[in-house]
Amino acid sequence: MNILVLGGGGREHALIWKLKQSPAVTEVYCIPGNAGIAQLAKCLDKPVDDFPFIDKYCRNNNIGLIIVGPEAILIKGVTDYFEKKNYQVFGPNKIAAQLEGSKAFAKTFMKKQNIPTARFEIFNLPKAAMDFIKNPKFGNGQVKEGYPLVIKADGLAAGKGVLICHTLAEAEKAIDVIMLKKMFGTAGDKIVIEEFMTGEEASILCFTDGETIEPMVTVQDHKRIYDDDQGPNTGGMGCYAPVPKINPELMQKIKEKTLQPTLAGLKQEKILYRGVLYVGIMIVNDDPFVLEYNVRFGDPETQAILPLLKTDLFKIIEYINLGKLKDIKIEWENKYCVSVVIASAGYPGGFHKGKLVTGLEKTINLPETFIFHAGTTFPQKETDQGLTEYDRAKIITSGGRVFGVTATGTTLKEALARSYEAVPLIQFEGAQWRKDIGRKGL
Ligand code: AMP
Ligand code: GLY
Repeated sequence: MNILVLGGGGREHALIWKLKQSPAVTEVYCIPGNAGIAQLAKCLDKPVDDFPFIDKYCRNNNIGLIIVGPEAILIKGVTDYFEKKNYQVFGPNKIAAQLEGSKAFAKTFMKKQNIPTARFEIFNLPKAAMDFIKNPKFGNGQVKEGYPLVIKADGLAAGKGVLICHTLAEAEKAIDVIMLKKMFGTAGDKIVIEEFMTGEEASILCFTDGETIEPMVTVQDHKRIYDDDQGPNTGGMGCYAPVPKINPELMQKIKEKTLQPTLAGLKQEKILYRGVLYVGIMIVNDDPFVLEYNVRFGDPETQAILPLLKTDLFKIIEYINLGKLKDIKIEWENKYCVSVVIASAGYPGGFHKGKLVTGLEKTINLPETFIFHAGTTFPQKETDQGLTEYDRAKIITSGGRVFGVTATGTTLKEALARSYEAVPLIQFEGAQWRKDIGRKGL
């Protein structure tokens, strides 16, 4: 079957790398892709939200399955659009995608379904929110009242819409910036204010067909830009899998308290969820609390998960789309995987682009090491006929996160050593990476 993957980050590179291992996959296409994906798939640099164009492109290329990477188009209804046109799509529909598209929707759902999460209040009006933060009380619960408070824009804000406020002044500023100054646009029409939880975070990505929910290997992301979790939040600076702290007993709790009730709640609300459900959890005193839902593969999490997946990914997707997930046995390598992100100077703020990348060839023969590309492209050059075309002999940077340097090993230590051996070999001006990925897992 011919497949189209939408997206162009490290997540999509890892997905395509894995899909290409399936004997059932003929050709892979990718919109927009990147310089690494271009080695495996036919890439086309077009917007992922131009659905009518993509429809034509799929017909011309005999594409039967569309796999969706980024959340924004899931929330926009990419699945509904293409399913109506009789394509197979991997990713939840518009209603189900509200679990990521609206924090208020997700929190209300969790409360109704008794899924452990931070206590919260939802506000549509800045005045009411301003009143609340003067004397924040969430009702009865074991966690202490007061500051810090977490203030979240309701809608998508590119990972920047969550503000942790230590004082009343900071909380006032957060409400002002989100609801009045509309820093995240209409995402700030509503806010969620919730209590602050202290604990260890982990990501539980799951396959689900709406009937069965099957967690993948557990993974821990590193969201802050600097070592020791300092500096602003990013999309994720690196991760490792599995997370040793999540032992079978804790995993059982996670299943019983969060995953199963989420699936049951969706069924109860007659929401058909097919695809990947990413449950972000905080482990507080050995108990899991849901921080957030994402309705897709995580990035960089997917880069550390897929090298450990033994089962054919295309087959898993087929079983999910047929509603038969329970009939396929999903198997994992008994190993660890680490992915260290190399980012551009300035990221997560305004970052540099167009920097020449060197040294990739030095990583080719490193054992169990995979370089997934994110923000990379080819420079353009002029041909003799005066046309512009890509100069595929060179690679330049084009995004904030540029590479996910990924490696497996029989121990976490070995996987880390392999990844960190490769990282400095890849060079471009202003490259930055964290030196402490996976340290918490050791
Ligand atoms: P979210 O997008 O809701 O997952 O929030 C982004 C990040 O903010 C999370 O990964 C946590 O690091 C942090 N965060 C969100 N909610 C809370 C909370 N209630 N308590 C502590 N940290 C939080
Ligand atoms: N790495 C966090 C995310 O994919 O949402």
